Amino acid sequence: MLYSLRERDYNITAFLGGYDKNITYLVGNNRLDKVWSVDASVPLNNLPIKLQDKITDILITHTHGDHVAYLDQYVKKNPKVKIYLFKGSSFEKHCEKTITIMDGDILPLNHIKIKVLHTPGHYPDSCCFLFNDSLFTGDTVFIGRTGRTISIGSNVRTLYKSVYSKLLTLQGDITIFPGHDYGPEPYCSIKKNIKISPLLQAEDEDDFVQRMEEYERSRLS
Ligand SMILES: [Fe+2]
Repeated sequence: MLYSLRERDYNITAFLGGYDKNITYLVGNNRLDKVWSVDASVPLNNLPIKLQDKITDILITHTHGDHVAYLDQYVKKNPKVKIYLFKGSSFEKHCEKTITIMDGDILPLNHIKIKVLHTPGHYPDSCCFLFNDSLFTGDTVFIGRTGRTISIGSNVRTLYKSVYSKLLTLQGDITIFPGHDYGPEPYCSIKKNIKISPLLQAEDEDDFVQRMEEYERSRLS
């Protein structure tokens, strides 16, 4: 377990593992008798035994292989689990238990209302999930930077629109919970993330494109 947070009347627990410092979150009430997960990116065995069969719903931030790598294990253990995927995702046909979601949808999971924000750019079916003061960002935003735009389906200008118009306009004290533990800390507020992330400080779209190009060059050197 990476950490466990108690927020008001619910609990967020983060588990690290998978392909590359992936994080799968389990969220539920403080009794943890029913939980939902964000992604299925760490092996089921990484989760506490007592929670493995309590998963009622799985929210998929996007369908890059590492984020759905262990979905079959989660479904096998929880045959009634519902899987939420962005509408039109090419992954949809691989999975029978999917519920398709769209931008702006409100998902009522175990008495918590979760808002779906479609945030393409890193990948076409990328979604972020917002409830109360918590925002699950998948690979759209990490702590310290945005996601990358080097895979098939990525688009840097689309990412700019998603990040700057849908995420950075949210209240600054909302906490970001990313899909990988790549930053100096595993989670932080939107306000703080802007402060520590040059890629979140662009003046406009062209400036962001330039900053991303510089960032990608720095990854090569
Ligand atoms: Fe990804």
